Amino acid sequence: MIFSELLTNYKLIDPVQLCTHFKLLPFEIFTYNETQKNYVLLAGKNNPIDILKKYKGPVFISKNDMKAYLNISFENFDKCRTDFEDTISSDLSSTEEKVKSLYNYGDVLVANILNNPDDPELIKGTHFFIKKVIHFSSGDFVVIDRLQRMTDKDKYQFRHSLNVFLTGITFIHFLLKEKFLQLSEQEVSAMALGLFFHDVGMIYIPPEIRLKTGALTTHERDTIQKHPILGFDLLNNMIKQRNVSLSDVNLDIIKYHHERMDGSGYPFKLQGENIPVAARLCSICDVYNALIMDRSYHSSIDSFSACRVLFEEMRNLFDRQLLKYFLILLGPKNQLTQNVENYSEEKLPE
Ligand SMILES: [Fe+2]
Repeated sequence: MIFSELLTNYKLIDPVQLCTHFKLLPFEIFTYNETQKNYVLLAGKNNPIDILKKYKGPVFISKNDMKAYLNISFENFDKCRTDFEDTISSDLSSTEEKVKSLYNYGDVLVANILNNPDDPELIKGTHFFIKKVIHFSSGDFVVIDRLQRMTDKDKYQFRHSLNVFLTGITFIHFLLKEKFLQLSEQEVSAMALGLFFHDVGMIYIPPEIRLKTGALTTHERDTIQKHPILGFDLLNNMIKQRNVSLSDVNLDIIKYHHERMDGSGYPFKLQGENIPVAARLCSICDVYNALIMDRSYHSSIDSFSACRVLFEEMRNLFDRQLLKYFLILLGPKNQLTQNVENYSEEKLPE
């Protein structure tokens, strides 16, 4: 895709910023036809926004419509935040309504943060969201089940961050219940925030690489593999220059979430327990969500199949004990669970 050409007259937009509270749009939305190398109208002015919701690829607007787009996205963000704050604390709202408002606000919050990485107010605002989600999901398996169902499929570029965060929160609650981890409320919040921001460095990766549908060249792969360091630098600078309070756990997750137990990860090729435990936990949630996510370049697989892949094809990449608990939490309750129960006793391959 020739993004450089596209971006001279057209602007890549994030549809999540528009979708929640509007039925019609005051501007046109385009897709890009890679074969014919031209823009194609996806939704005209005043078309129902449902057309946009069904489309999975990147979408663009004319640069002339940027002001209208920004107005709508600000309004949408405010409405989602107010709706979340009202719904999540209300005794009159059902679990389904709470989960829906959580997703609507979480989506636009992640998109806003990743589109405006230099705004420390958004990061501070995230603390409130995370606290509410931890409290909402704590130990309630109906809530956990609803959240997991919501993470099964997605089309948005940045929803992955939200999904990894929600899976991670569920997983942390389970590890606390099983007494595998003992964490204070503050430590849980710190881990949750790290999960939420784990891929923040991706904003520095050019869209023509980040959104590429085909195989990556060596140079493109090297570029993508810089995102943990870029994300770490971004938040580290915020701590120093903008007085944003973040703990080492946040930074560990961002910096080390692509390291693997056998040393095959990046960027440092750390091995085993040299990888901080919070990053080991994030790596399982990250890969699991990548497998179940519906992307333009691959179809998703269901949750149980993803657990099978983690165990049968990837288990040497992850912390054994953490993977065992993860599969007991989310995997099919059959032969695989039995294998998993015995798995942590097995000898590591020489
Ligand atoms: Fe990542």
